[in-house]
Amino acid sequence: MTIPDSNFRRDVIRGLSARQKYLEPKYFYDATGDRLFQQIMQSPEYYLTNAELEILQRQSNAILGSCLQFHRQFDIVELGAGDASKSLYLLEQALQRGISYHYYPIDISGNVIGYLETSLPGKLPGMTTRGFTGEYFHMLEELNRYSKGPKLVLFLGATIGNMQPEEAFHFCRELHTYLNEGDLLLIGFDLKKDPATILAAYNDAAGITRDFNLNLLARINRELEGNFDLKKFRHYPVYDPGTGACKSYLISTEAQVVTLGDTRISFEKDEAIYMEVSQKYDMGQIEQMARKSGFTPIQHFYDRERNFLDTLWTVPSLKSVLGSR
Ligand code: AVI
Repeated sequence: MTIPDSNFRRDVIRGLSARQKYLEPKYFYDATGDRLFQQIMQSPEYYLTNAELEILQRQSNAILGSCLQFHRQFDIVELGAGDASKSLYLLEQALQRGISYHYYPIDISGNVIGYLETSLPGKLPGMTTRGFTGEYFHMLEELNRYSKGPKLVLFLGATIGNMQPEEAFHFCRELHTYLNEGDLLLIGFDLKKDPATILAAYNDAAGITRDFNLNLLARINRELEGNFDLKKFRHYPVYDPGTGACKSYLISTEAQVVTLGDTRISFEKDEAIYMEVSQKYDMGQIEQMARKSGFTPIQHFYDRERNFLDTLWTVPSLKSVLGSR
């Protein structure tokens, strides 16, 4: 069998040839990875999902109330929509109150978009769902041809945390360039808290997060003719309360050589593959990220335990930016 000359292969070889070996977390999400991530979200240790669900269940009305200070009607766009189970609370309220009639989910997975386009019309009669499959910024550009009025963009689930803070700032700054004055962004951040709580969320007792990480090695075996022996890698998450970075590594338990087709990758005993960062923030850092990337924070929505934050930002008018200098 010939090895597919895909971006996946190129990125994997590049990552495993680096001095600090790494793999890109976007490759976690094949069909098995999607299923494991669903299980992580239901695990007792992974507090993030319930915290954000609570915010949307209890505060969707307040979030929309805050948006109404800016526009009477707007379209809702969601980056990385997934199954939209959390945003559905907001969408239902927006429809009932006559605020939004168009929902534009964007996701890298065509399966997800197909599912949303078929399942949502039954749940949200009167709202049109038009999905976009692909990379966020390309799809926002495409979407701007359909959605001409004001927008509320949702970027939930602390997905921003899977970028290093500097990268997250560049992401927000670029996102800002696709929006117009007065557009709104509701963005989810996981907050700094008891380090033990954070570490447990990435080291669940049932080992689902371990399997989620190891599945990327299994995916390389399946798709790139790899021969990783999964038993020879150990899941090792660490949380640094100083920086707020929760990082996952896979550690080679012995010196070994792994092949991907004709490429040989050597591992020393205890050598690490850096898999993912899940960055945690404090309020000062979040406010600073908003302002540095050109947004104005409007209102913060926390869950009752203050584990998680969905924060509403807007693109200020040029006049107000100049006025505040
Ligand atoms: C998708 N993302 C926000 C998850 C997180 O918490 O960083 C991915 C994840 N990785 C391991 N557990 C969850």
